[in-house]
Amino acid sequence: MTTPVDDVDRAPVLERFDPFELQDTVSGEIRDPYPRLGELRRRSPVHVGPVDLGDGLPEDDPTRPQPVTVFGFDEAVEVLRDNDTYSSTVYDGIIGSVMGRTILQMDEPEHRLHRALVSPTFRSKVLERWEGDLVQRVVDELIADFVDDGSADLVQQLTFHFPVQVIAEILGLPRADFPRFQRWAIEITSVTANWDRGVAASEALRDYFADVVEERRARPADDLISDLLAVDVDGRSLDDEEIFSFLRLLLPAGVETTYRASGNLLYGLLTNPDQLQAVRDDRSLLPQAFEETIRWEPPVTVILRRATADTRLAGVPVEEGADVGLLLGSANRDERKYEDPDRFDLFRASRQSLGFGFGVHVCLGMHLARMETRVAMNALLDRLVDIELAPAPGQDLHIKGMAFRSPIALPITFTAA
Ligand code: HEM
Repeated sequence: MTTPVDDVDRAPVLERFDPFELQDTVSGEIRDPYPRLGELRRRSPVHVGPVDLGDGLPEDDPTRPQPVTVFGFDEAVEVLRDNDTYSSTVYDGIIGSVMGRTILQMDEPEHRLHRALVSPTFRSKVLERWEGDLVQRVVDELIADFVDDGSADLVQQLTFHFPVQVIAEILGLPRADFPRFQRWAIEITSVTANWDRGVAASEALRDYFADVVEERRARPADDLISDLLAVDVDGRSLDDEEIFSFLRLLLPAGVETTYRASGNLLYGLLTNPDQLQAVRDDRSLLPQAFEETIRWEPPVTVILRRATADTRLAGVPVEEGADVGLLLGSANRDERKYEDPDRFDLFRASRQSLGFGFGVHVCLGMHLARMETRVAMNALLDRLVDIELAPAPGQDLHIKGMAFRSPIALPITFTAA
């Protein structure tokens, strides 16, 4: 398992298991939840009791406090600001079972300490180190595989692969391991669809990382695992279980999200050719195109909290122990905050959104996600001109899913630059 990266032929990287069967179990069939979310949001920004979001009414559990669903932007911010009243321990159950104890489910002050331990490995100096060589190389190699073909499916040939390869490279994993690493990532994320498969992937990943950590302890390298082993904040370091949990979290947190976000960005631009042209002409617009994507079609549309006390939100009573679902996708289209919210418009005045969360748990990897997507888009625009969507006859291209959203295919035609 310690095969040096450069000794491995590239073929295994491109070996495909059929990811789309797995991916579908995560997305679900919902095509466009936004009209229904808008209707519910306009009725009330906060709902108490089970709500039918368009995929059926969830079962009512009379033994539990009534669940609360937040549709409004300001109301979601209010919850995310008050992390004493709204706890992240709600994630202990499902996420805890597959990832172990991670910063995602910790409350203060434990969260602050752990976040301080892992965040140095994501600071901007470190990102610079990864951008130039590593991310650029991953993206260039993937594009080189189809640049001479005149047509491609950008999901199958680019977006699905680059985030997992970037993370795997950042962790210093051998290329031959990339395909199974990607499979574990998806299996962990889809644990609610298949519990046994998710738990098995989590165990396999723990054993896998145990070997890598042992190896890096003996021979530190220029990678994130070696950085995590060297962390020292006021004399506190990370123990092995904490490292395994953090690494397991990076897969669903960093791979699934970025792959979906980059697909949504491409979909937004390809279905709005004037905006694609604007970005092609002025690449400094790429960051705002990405932020607008994270607002318009956040890849993760819902996050959770649990009330620690009886309280009120937007005048609505919230019981102690109630699960609080924050519908980021709805908050990001709140007409009280955004004009014409359903429109993808990279030139809109306010693109600030909740797509990366908000408050103490705001996404730790957002700068990495922004950087890798910018590198991928720049490389694509450098190498391909006259890009156009090219659906097969009868093929209906769209973004789909409920909790996780992205296009399943992005067939294009183009000319090599
Ligand atoms: C476009 C891509 C991404 C999106 C939309 C996204 C979204 C989010 C959201 C909404 C949260 C907050 C969860 C909550 O408060 O309950 C979060 C947290 C987190 N994200 Fe991301 N994420 C992305 C990319 C990444 C990447 C690339 C990484 C790392 C490689 C990453 C690592 C994390 C971690 C570690 C947390 C937990 C932070 C904490 O609890 O303090 N994410 N992300």
